[in-house]
Amino acid sequence: MKTDNANIIRLKDYKKPDYTITQTDLTIKIFDQYTQVESTLYFTKNNEVSGLPELSLNGIDQAIQSIHLDERELFEPSYRYENEVLTLQPTAENFILKSITHIHPNKNTSLEGLYQSGTMICSQCEAEGFRKITFYLDRPDVMAVFTTHIEANRKQYPVLLSNGNPIDQGELADERHFATWHDPFPKPSYLFAAVAGDLVRHDDVFVTQSGREVSLRIFAEAHNAHKTDFAIDSLKRSMSWDEKRYGREYDLDIFMIVASDYFNMGAMENKGLNIFNSAAVLASPETSNDARFDRIEAIVAHEYFHNWSGNRVTCRDWFQLTLKEGLTVYRDSQFTADTHNAAVKRISDVEDLKSAQFSEDAGPNAHPIQPQEYVEINNFYTATVYEKGAEIIRMINTIIGDENFRKGTDLYFDTFDGQAVTTEDFVGCMEKVSSVDFTQFKRWYVQAGTPTVDVSESYDAGTQTYQLSFKQHCKPTPNQPKKLPFVIPVKMALLESNGNEIAIQCDGNFNASTSVLLLTEESTIVSFTGISQKPVASLFRDFSAPVNVNMNYSDEDQILLATKDGNAFNRYNAMQSLYIDVLSVLVKNIQSDIPKSVDTLVLATLEDSGLSNAITSYMVSLPSFAVLRSMFAPVDARALTAAREKLQTHIAKQFESHWQGLAHSLASAQPYEFNAEEAGRRSLHGKALNYWVKAGSLEAITYAEALYRAADNQSDRLNGIGAVLNSEDSERAEKLLAHFYRQWHQDTQMVETWLTLNASQDRFDHKQAAELMTHEAFDFTNPNKVRSVLGVFASNFEAFHAGSDENYQFIAEQIVKLDKINPQIAARFTKILESWRSFTDDRGIPMKKALEYIISTESLSSDVTELVQNALS
Ligand code: BES
Ligand code: ZN
Repeated sequence: MKTDNANIIRLKDYKKPDYTITQTDLTIKIFDQYTQVESTLYFTKNNEVSGLPELSLNGIDQAIQSIHLDERELFEPSYRYENEVLTLQPTAENFILKSITHIHPNKNTSLEGLYQSGTMICSQCEAEGFRKITFYLDRPDVMAVFTTHIEANRKQYPVLLSNGNPIDQGELADERHFATWHDPFPKPSYLFAAVAGDLVRHDDVFVTQSGREVSLRIFAEAHNAHKTDFAIDSLKRSMSWDEKRYGREYDLDIFMIVASDYFNMGAMENKGLNIFNSAAVLASPETSNDARFDRIEAIVAHEYFHNWSGNRVTCRDWFQLTLKEGLTVYRDSQFTADTHNAAVKRISDVEDLKSAQFSEDAGPNAHPIQPQEYVEINNFYTATVYEKGAEIIRMINTIIGDENFRKGTDLYFDTFDGQAVTTEDFVGCMEKVSSVDFTQFKRWYVQAGTPTVDVSESYDAGTQTYQLSFKQHCKPTPNQPKKLPFVIPVKMALLESNGNEIAIQCDGNFNASTSVLLLTEESTIVSFTGISQKPVASLFRDFSAPVNVNMNYSDEDQILLATKDGNAFNRYNAMQSLYIDVLSVLVKNIQSDIPKSVDTLVLATLEDSGLSNAITSYMVSLPSFAVLRSMFAPVDARALTAAREKLQTHIAKQFESHWQGLAHSLASAQPYEFNAEEAGRRSLHGKALNYWVKAGSLEAITYAEALYRAADNQSDRLNGIGAVLNSEDSERAEKLLAHFYRQWHQDTQMVETWLTLNASQDRFDHKQAAELMTHEAFDFTNPNKVRSVLGVFASNFEAFHAGSDENYQFIAEQIVKLDKINPQIAARFTKILESWRSFTDDRGIPMKKALEYIISTESLSSDVTELVQNALS
């Protein structure tokens, strides 16, 4: 059951707009108490429409000053403004509508539309925020050329920015000034941006492959000016990568990034004027660890890549969101893989997918990457649309090969440049260039749920034949009881006992040049011939499809895969399967012994000099709770915590001297450098230190504290303090946390990190969360601060799920409070509770009660209502 039927938007109801806007001229006058928006819109009737239908424009919280249709001023009832829609009757096919309205950025805590962020004013329009700025056809298939004129006090707001190229600026009376921007590329309203602030500029230049000079500018508040070097560097590398890998060049004379402390998401790809969450762009070795550098590089690339996959070619409607997001996530993952280490990137992406997306697909809000209906579009910026969406693009690439994939994207960008299109259009290009029929494949776009593939094998020495049998099935998801078979690409090899690959001859749909076997039926049996000894199948290499795989490998085979598979991802994956097998036994009986194979494989990993530090670090890491919980559903949170703790302590103690040795040998006194090699070293260093401390010696924890204190970079600092926080020594943890805050309380990113460190302690609970929220460092209106405390607490499985069940009611109360401030963020927090059915009753029932509490409160947003109702139904 969804909310009110009338509020459901359906893909099947899509209709072209009756009118479109070709030109949009905005004048934004910023005053202390309000902002006046004057918009002049040039309308044309869609020539497929007969007569002159009424015009309905979106508009939220618009205080109307005047409305003119062509030269004539309109008064009510010539126009009506109700339920966030302005309706009026045009009198010609082409007309100009001029509206003057007042809005209040300083009261706008939703951080959508025009809002105040610290001392600056900035905008966020995707998906439907533009209607909070002015009346508009606020939908992506209406594309106009924008000219934006901003006026404000010169002292308070010396910098005035909008999309496109600057065309004019000057002084005005009363110490005010103005700037005018023109964006020649027609764009939907969601890509509009405006910024006014007192900002410092970091300038650079990029010369495109065709020799055009592009000015690059990053704007930040003065105290952050020293943190923009890395983003500029990432931007230049992204620009040249997109030229080489996709032949895509930048198109305007200027590309700008603005850092904002108050931002709902990571960043936004507004044409020529990206706006970033400060945390996703500002970096320095002193305040950002390797993971943060990774993230910043990826987000800068992602938003830049949208200039083609999203802006030049955009979405027809919001059901096509994965068209731009899935493709762009895929593109940014390729950029990271090419720049650093492909196996490491793949491992980390698959961990993210399994922890966030698989659970979404198994829960009450499961939806296909192309949803068929929604109440609130903001609720569909999900791991499914993004990460699973990227996996679908990846499978297309896997199936048709790199050369055809590039031909396909070329055709897509060239054919649809300047248009608002659909996922069908994209897949159509891939079909054309490859001559592969994607009809069945397109089920991935409309069927939700994670398929499971059961694999079994048999070997016949007499005929030298090896058989693999695959069976796929997919559990029902909301409104989809039955699924049709998916097209599943299995990248594979058959290995001899020394790990060598056997040349494949088989009767399956196997492509020898890509090593990909295609499954299209519910059940597939493939016979491999000329096999003189039973091989070991290395399947789903590089995680070639977003599925769960069940294959009962013998211990011997699993050891072979974990130690000798030529595919680094599958080596890692074999280790993870072993840990999962062990944990599933321990969850049932915590007394059971840990099998010798764990020791064998951890030792083999630690002694394998052929592995990079980064891969070793992943191989000795246990699966996260986020990954485990969906595998053990219905999960007993306390039993799982105890099981994981036991296995971790076992590995820590068993290899104590190894961890100690690594903690020493991997330390470095060299200046911080961010690259794959160094980040890998630091990752394994931190991992080893954690295990060493877990083994329990005073020497280890003293070493960790010393690392923290001596660190001149954030990676070492967090490795040090992290190991202390994970230890039993709570006094030392307190002391270091207090020291951290004293040292860094003036740095916004460091304060966020400090809140995160607090909330990620094993011992954290709702009382401490409540107390932390009264600290001067906390701010309920700032999404980063809220995420740093509540988001981190809720994903701290040991503290949140294995701790007091009052944690659930606490989070529910915070969601209700937050909903009044920022519904988009509040809705994201309901995900914490939605999976109540995947827990045993001791957790599941209080989780459900917390959801019922939320839904029982008054005037909830549609954002929260949609998700909570689904979770309870
Ligand atoms: N277009 C989105 C930002 C966005 C999302 C705006 C939802 C409004 C509502 C942007 O391109 C994006 O996807 N950002 C991601 C980061 C990216 C690296 C996946 C984000 O903000 O988390
Ligand atoms: Zn994006």
